[in-house]
Amino acid sequence: MTRIRIEGLTRTFGAVRAVDNISLDIRHGELFTLLGPSGCGKTTLLRMIAGFVDVESGSISFDDRRIDALPAHRRDSGMVFQNYAIFPNHTVAENVAYGLKARKVPAAEIASRVDKALERVRLAGYGPRSPHQLSGGQLQRVAIARALVIEPAVLLFDEPLSNLDAQLRTEMRIEVRQLQQALGLTAIYVTHDQEEALAISDRIAVLRRGKIEQVDTPERIYRMPQTAFVAEFLGSTNMVPGIAGAFDGRNTPVAAAGTEFSVRGEVASPGAPVLLSLRPEALRLGNSSDGPLVQARLALREFLGPMQRLHATLPDGTQLRITALGGQVLDVLPGAPLTLAYDPAQITAYPAP
Ligand SMILES: Nc1ncnc2c1ncn2[C@@H]1O[C@H](COP(=O)(O)OP(=O)(O)OP(=O)(O)O)[C@@H](O)[C@H]1O
Ligand SMILES: [Mg+2]
Repeated sequence: MTRIRIEGLTRTFGAVRAVDNISLDIRHGELFTLLGPSGCGKTTLLRMIAGFVDVESGSISFDDRRIDALPAHRRDSGMVFQNYAIFPNHTVAENVAYGLKARKVPAAEIASRVDKALERVRLAGYGPRSPHQLSGGQLQRVAIARALVIEPAVLLFDEPLSNLDAQLRTEMRIEVRQLQQALGLTAIYVTHDQEEALAISDRIAVLRRGKIEQVDTPERIYRMPQTAFVAEFLGSTNMVPGIAGAFDGRNTPVAAAGTEFSVRGEVASPGAPVLLSLRPEALRLGNSSDGPLVQARLALREFLGPMQRLHATLPDGTQLRITALGGQVLDVLPGAPLTLAYDPAQITAYPAP
């Protein structure tokens, strides 16, 4: 197991600061995810750690060893690429053996280590096959076996599942997670799929334009996003602009969308413009609860099987998306009044930009 410490890492390409003064401390055995929109610097940061992109300034250490000046093959890391990077004219076994040959491991040892790596990704016996005889999921497993076979201290994944269809992706992410936990390896996992990040990570760093917006556990990053960007990027949310009122010692009233919301804590000074993030599941149907209420009108109901999504119109015409369980009976027709209850602790407020 290996701790990864990154300090003040920067890389520019022309005018673009792809990675802008990033510092991170990744713990032993952690699956740490870099999440963010296209172009935010995820691949550049991962490739700097792998040794495929030069460091401009800053440092990278594995435990107490500074590794940022070492060539890639001496960094003790295995990388899984988005496009698999499998050699089509070599067998599965030859593909997996690649890193061992490059490291001049004796032939007899190569064969047994390749078998073991293929077994770990549930491809025992596939060694003699040609890559074109494998499915997408199997090819991705070969790519993982090739990274594992060198017995790296650190595993690096760059969007390893993005070429797979949705169902296979949700299956494979569990395999990746279980393998990483079973081997006790420290892993950095790049994705722009927020559900994948929430599902398998110990911690997530949300990146934006080469900088870190927030580093936290999946639960905290979802429930307590520190910026409006993180709230919008992770999960869907309703962003509603409003004006803060006077803090009453427990909650702050916020006038928004022609009504008033109550937000836990002191969110801003009275009169300050704010943005409210209302998660679709933070608002509940009905008025039986002891929390504050909001009056709205039902605009549209979408039945989605296990869930239903309600589109509710607030007094000034703003529409909110609300999710409720599909089994919950809703005896309201479009256009009819709808009472919504919520917990002030589940609403987040940000300074308006
Ligand atoms: N070799 C390069 N030459 C010039 N610009 C580059 C190079 N590599 C990356 N960039 C730029 O750096 C920024 C970050 O790119 P990067 O590939 O790290 O983003 P990413 O977060 O991995 O995006 P994606 O989700 O699309 O893979 C982008 O603006 C990109 O155009
Ligand atoms: Mg990328």
